[in-house]
Amino acid sequence: MSRVALVTGGTRGIGAAISVALKNAGRTVLANYAGNDAAAAAFHKETGIEVVKFDVASYEQCAEAVRQIEARHDKIEILVNNAGITRDAVLSKMSREMWDAVIDTNLGACFNLCKLTFDGMKAHKFGRIVNIGSINGQAGQYGQVNYAAAKSGIHGFTKALAQEGARFSITVNAVAPGYVDTDMVRAVPPDVLEKIIAKIPRGRLGTAEDIARSVVFLTADEADFITGSTLSINGGQHMY
Ligand code: CAA
Repeated sequence: MSRVALVTGGTRGIGAAISVALKNAGRTVLANYAGNDAAAAAFHKETGIEVVKFDVASYEQCAEAVRQIEARHDKIEILVNNAGITRDAVLSKMSREMWDAVIDTNLGACFNLCKLTFDGMKAHKFGRIVNIGSINGQAGQYGQVNYAAAKSGIHGFTKALAQEGARFSITVNAVAPGYVDTDMVRAVPPDVLEKIIAKIPRGRLGTAEDIARSVVFLTADEADFITGSTLSINGGQHMY
């Protein structure tokens, strides 16, 4: 039976490319989304991938979603924590709400969904978790103390959980994308983005597919010996 994969934020941007790549690799994919019904419906129509709506920042909604998915399918054996938001501002202009929203959605969600799927993976003695970090969690970024803290947290979370999962054949890895051509990056002011692209040795933004291929690689059954690692995919912008 094909392994069941849950991809959060899986109907748009990097997440959509990951969902499609995992489907093409023979997985049964569930693509989560939070609010954009139109985009999710269009994604489903185009790809045939099942979409599931819930807020990854809410433990209760995650618990209900996992329960429903596992009732309809097999256990979730592949989890890709990709959903993420930005609320960029310099610290002096950043509100507590901007901080909480980014920490809860980008990092809290990792806790929620790993916690809710980990015991099932342990029981099956198989699991593949990929957490999507960021170059900005590795290097920091002006105007992003919230996002950098959340993404940096993901990198630590990954290494800690990898140690807990290893003896159950559960691998936990992170992918750290650089600047990828998505709506999130297109929201950066054009003059700022231009300066960022000028610092990418490869000379271009990444594509969502550049990231998706690494997730297929890390979630393969054969990737059993890769755990606790961070794969940086950033066109050479930050060599870490
Ligand atoms: N380093 C040092 N100084 C900087 C700077 C930098 N990187 N960027 C801006 N500044 C300076 C400006 O030159 C300006 O100085 P002056 O007042 O002396 O002119 C001052 O800081 C204020 O800059 P802004 O006018 O831009 O300030 P703002 O409050 O209007 O906006 C900001 C601040 C929201 C952070 C805006 O600069 C911004 O959006 N920056 C981009 C942040 C970014 O890269 N986000 C990534 C989003 S994509 C993503 O996160 C995906 C991923 O994983 C990679």
